[in-house]
Amino acid sequence: MNIRDIDIYTTRDLSYDFLGLRFENPFILAAAPSTDNLEMVRRAFHMGWAGAILKTTSVEGTRVDLAYPMMSTFNHDGKKLFGMGNIDLISEHHVDKVENNVRMLKKEFPEKIVGASIMAGRKEDWQHLVERLESAGVDFIECSFSCPQGNIGEDPGKMLAQSVVATELTARWVKEAAKRIPISIKITPHVTDILEIARAVKRSGADAITASNSLQALMGIDIRTFVPYPQLNGRSTHSGLTGPAIKPITLKTISEIARNVDIPILGTGGASTWSDAVEFTAVGAGVVQFCTAVMHHGFRIIDDLKSGLSHYLDDMNFTSVTNIHRRALPHLVTHDDLPRCSVRSHINDALCIQCEVCYVACRDGGHIAIDRRPSKIPIVSEERCVGCGLCELVCPVEGCIEMRAPQEFSTVNYTG
Ligand SMILES: Cc1cc2nc3c(=O)[nH]c(=O)nc-3n(C[C@H](O)[C@H](O)[C@H](O)COP(=O)(O)O)c2cc1C
Repeated sequence: MNIRDIDIYTTRDLSYDFLGLRFENPFILAAAPSTDNLEMVRRAFHMGWAGAILKTTSVEGTRVDLAYPMMSTFNHDGKKLFGMGNIDLISEHHVDKVENNVRMLKKEFPEKIVGASIMAGRKEDWQHLVERLESAGVDFIECSFSCPQGNIGEDPGKMLAQSVVATELTARWVKEAAKRIPISIKITPHVTDILEIARAVKRSGADAITASNSLQALMGIDIRTFVPYPQLNGRSTHSGLTGPAIKPITLKTISEIARNVDIPILGTGGASTWSDAVEFTAVGAGVVQFCTAVMHHGFRIIDDLKSGLSHYLDDMNFTSVTNIHRRALPHLVTHDDLPRCSVRSHINDALCIQCEVCYVACRDGGHIAIDRRPSKIPIVSEERCVGCGLCELVCPVEGCIEMRAPQEFSTVNYTG
């Protein structure tokens, strides 16, 4: 017996029924370099990933003209790959190779979920891809309407999912061609109204939405040569930004769709940890896809994902992942409907390390409501403090500053 057959980390059943498919856990690999190579997907499956979406393929003869180097990084505050930029395109493997990969993977791993991502220009090509991959045994198809470098065919540089009409029409073609397998449409957050696109997908009859793809970004400029990143002999272009930096945008996109359109959602964009996946699920995602986190730390993160989720379910007394689904949505309201709370900053003297970060932040970015005392422990002016919360955000000591209702202050004695 292989050590991996004994799951020492996971005590809970993490399986999840979604789109009529049984995922052994809610973690799958997003369409990306990690899913473009049979050996890599095999290894990921052995390590415990529930499924993978094979990197976007196209019909034979499609020209895929890659440019290298294709990655750049957005490091922040000492954190490497806080965001990652890529100028990758779809796979160089056309459907003939990918359908073989699907056949082999489904034969070797019948219990794993194998999805395939497709992109085409013409109706007949979209439909041809669906037919070929469906007969090869793929479990579902994801349509890339949102490559940050644009689509194949007319209007290159534009993303299909930026047009309501093109989204609905193309999704209809794809859905028409699928006999039994579910179809998900991968959308972009680069639109004025994400709900118009989500409703177009729903009208098309497609089964799900994948929300959402990388963000178009300019990753940075070398301030001596003025060449942006990534640098290819003095030239550059915009990248697709992925990784932790885009998580808040993905949460917003998923939650907005989940609150307004009745359609299953696959979450992608910025998930790195099990708790990110819980957040995605709580705002309405079914399964959660991972890409940048795997490219950074390897397939082995699946151990942490599974054990973290399992312990979380235990802690929360949840019997399954479905207990998390949509749980954050009732708390999400419009700004008009927010309660107007009266809170003030409270500094815990015993925890304060006298760094004065809160003092400076409030003085120059808040309401000049924090004063210094001879002891250097800051004091909050109840009259000036409006309760904006900035001091709590910048304080480096967990729990030192809290926002409290004014009546909670009556027992607090200030010394200094
Ligand atoms: C190098 C690279 C290549 C990618 N290729 C594809 C692709 O072929 N098709 C696709 O739909 N998404 C592609 N993506 C986007 C990922 O599937 C995923 O949606 C995105 O990276 C956001 O997730 P993350 O923050 O977990 O990385 C690619 C991402 C990266 C980083």
